[in-house]
Amino acid sequence: MNGCHNITGRVCKRFKRLPPGGCGRITMTAPTWLWVDLHQSRSWPWLHSVSTSDSLAKREDYPNRKNNLSYGNRLQLAQASIYELPFAESSFDKIFCLGVLQHTPSFEDAIRSLVKHAKIGGEIVVDFYTINGWYTKIHSKYLLRPLTKRLGKATLLRLIRANINWLIVLFDIFCALRLGVLTRFIPITDLRGFPTGLSARQRKEWAIMDTFDGLSPAFDNPQRVSDVVKMFVEEGCDVTHAGLVDWSGGSSTVVRAVKRCSSFDLGSIASSQQRG
Ligand SMILES: C[S@@+](CC[C@H](N)C(=O)[O-])C[C@H]1O[C@@H](n2cnc3c(N)ncnc32)[C@H](O)[C@@H]1O
Repeated sequence: MNGCHNITGRVCKRFKRLPPGGCGRITMTAPTWLWVDLHQSRSWPWLHSVSTSDSLAKREDYPNRKNNLSYGNRLQLAQASIYELPFAESSFDKIFCLGVLQHTPSFEDAIRSLVKHAKIGGEIVVDFYTINGWYTKIHSKYLLRPLTKRLGKATLLRLIRANINWLIVLFDIFCALRLGVLTRFIPITDLRGFPTGLSARQRKEWAIMDTFDGLSPAFDNPQRVSDVVKMFVEEGCDVTHAGLVDWSGGSSTVVRAVKRCSSFDLGSIASSQQRG
């Protein structure tokens, strides 16, 4: 999936600029499709990928492991929380956290943990759901979530599968009548962001998975881009990008930041400011 380069900022090219002999270390919260970059890289970075998901415990069944066997132990998967990453502080050249932050109980603490684990000069790339205005939460997803996040996962998936056909038809009718604004009131993901080349069957499967993804997580905390930028700056980072990034499967709101000082430096700056 080449489009992921647009979000990650072409990892491979940048890794080629690492000093000789220094094999980069990348970490990623929640396994995702970053393996494309590893495959193309000649600088042999090591990728550590973590998620709280139970599926990581079933090591031999886990699709990310199966799909990436060729990388051997350069790809390390671990079941861990973003708040308790099993790595030393200041140890990563690149940190990617895609599709995760909005599902954590404290967005700010999650950013703090990511920054803590980047080296000075290391880059952190995150994407997240955004608050676009007062109307963001006037949406079927947010209205139904108090109920759906408490349903058993299998029950919710069954319910979505049983209703997806008429939901897709209704969604398409609203769009054809130029009443797209009404689609937010029907409990289905926004199909307009899907790639255009999907077959009807693929579109249905994506619709099921993305609707489940919206209705099932325990947390769904969208953020203002300006607030996320502020969080990075407060953690001692320079923000190099903040805003929408298009990729082959749609678009995501992305913040990229470079760590410029450690939490120790930040502590010293704060205490000297207090003394002054
Ligand atoms: C919507 S999925 C995204 C998966 C993948 N990153 C992608 O983009 O396709 C959200 C993931 O966040 C993980 N997650 C939720 N809370 C987490 C936490 N506190 N620490 C680490 N991972 C977490 C979940 O286990 C799940 O795998």
